[in-house]
Amino acid sequence: MDWLKDACFYEIYPQSFKDSNGDGIGDFNGIIEKLDYIKELGCNGIWMNPCFDSPFKDAGYDVRNYKLVAERYGTNDDLKRLFEEAHKRGIKILLDLVPGHTSDEHEWFKDSKKAEPGEFKDRYIWTDFWYGEARNLRGIAGMADRNGIYVVNFFASQPALNYGFLNKTEKWQSSVDSPEAIATADAMCDVMKFWLSMGADGFRVDMADSLVKFDDDDKSATCKVWKRIIAEVKKEYPEARLVSEWNRPRQSLPAGFDMDFMLNWTGNGYDLLLRDTGSEKPSPIFKKDSKRDINDFLNDYLPQYEDTRESGRYCLITGNHDTDRVSYYLDEDERKIAFAFLLTMPGAPFIYYGDEIGMRYMKELPSKEGGYTRTGSRTPMQWDDSEGAGFSTANKDSFYLPIDADLKGKNAKEQMAKEGSLYNTVKEVIALRKSNEALLDNGNLDFVLRQPGRREFAFKRGDLLIVVNPSEKACKVDSSDVKISSLPEKKYSIGDVKTDKGVIEMGPVSFGVFVIS
Ligand code: NOJ
Ligand code: CA
Repeated sequence: MDWLKDACFYEIYPQSFKDSNGDGIGDFNGIIEKLDYIKELGCNGIWMNPCFDSPFKDAGYDVRNYKLVAERYGTNDDLKRLFEEAHKRGIKILLDLVPGHTSDEHEWFKDSKKAEPGEFKDRYIWTDFWYGEARNLRGIAGMADRNGIYVVNFFASQPALNYGFLNKTEKWQSSVDSPEAIATADAMCDVMKFWLSMGADGFRVDMADSLVKFDDDDKSATCKVWKRIIAEVKKEYPEARLVSEWNRPRQSLPAGFDMDFMLNWTGNGYDLLLRDTGSEKPSPIFKKDSKRDINDFLNDYLPQYEDTRESGRYCLITGNHDTDRVSYYLDEDERKIAFAFLLTMPGAPFIYYGDEIGMRYMKELPSKEGGYTRTGSRTPMQWDDSEGAGFSTANKDSFYLPIDADLKGKNAKEQMAKEGSLYNTVKEVIALRKSNEALLDNGNLDFVLRQPGRREFAFKRGDLLIVVNPSEKACKVDSSDVKISSLPEKKYSIGDVKTDKGVIEMGPVSFGVFVIS
């Protein structure tokens, strides 16, 4: 069986999870200490944000050395031990691969920016003029001796690696099948194999759609590069699994990725589900007084999902290190049913560390390591309500980021002990998912109730019917609404959920799973 079939992932931001040596920064040994916590929650996969040597101008998404871990997290051997300890507990680990750019301190870039051409002169995209525009691409001039402007993939400190251009129109561009473009792809293959041989189980791939620049609107050239890389890697490591940061499964899955993420883009279906970040007064679907119905999500999600029903997975997240934590938008009851919904949908679910215990989005925090508004979602994990929240024994002033001043009710210890807490709800729903074949990762999804203007909605997965009422008002759902002929038998619920003569009565903000035959 493919190990993704029953996978449920937990995303760890390594600098903020658990500090084992009292320097105020999370590390590999700290993660090892907390593997049992992750296992107890029910997760059997980890996505760990970049942990490689870096000047940290973008929290590690600016890699200086792909084959060396950052000293602040430990050594390569510590990471190897983390893989081993995770595997002992049945947990797989995805590393974060950043293939589109490096740090401007990477040896390749240092070589490529010299006035005299060196071994890596074509590893990045450089123009052959030092004044003007690098076509429609973002370029940086005046920072190096080389006669040229380098193209950036994200921040100025993240020069774009050269995978070539689909339609080469300028002398300074490489074509996609040039030796230098192929050499870049080969170098990335080598990095992947290096970590897989150490025990990694796969990768979350950063900006996976960003490889080939210019004119590659349908991403066919980028897909071609990936097909080659992934085939090459899987020849040696057939069990390796890859999830792309792309949000276009119809492109990414045929390119060889095993999963793709639905990303939070302002105003898209996922944004309207939990956040609604573009509105002055956010009113996402899961807010109890929202006027939205589930179609605001489904109109975006379903066409993408349908396209990939057979071939793979379109994954839903509670949040990630780039999004505002959902607790900023939804109260705890709303989050319970929102997370239950995410955890009963197809695709491997991803829980962002701390979302399961209700950690807050600390909006006002000053930017750290290129985090900007994302910084507030990256604060230390709140293990208990002690002075340092159980994160670190260091003086609080030297913590990577400040701990939330209000830990009450929002720390793992308290959440675990409290019946019906958010943590326990998440744990129950993960267990429910795992013990029901119908809820696992498969193509089986049928939205039977999605009436415009109606707040409650329902979907079938195999012999299970899931009914969700995100509204503050109670409602009734009868069998014709959800196209069933038998009496639904309640299996699991959150909030006030009853069945009476075949009618399902859903209390305010409630969630129910029923067996149908
Ligand atoms: C997406 C990552 O998730 C984000 O944190 C990073 O800043 C950019 N890619 C650039 O690598
Ligand atoms: Ca540490």
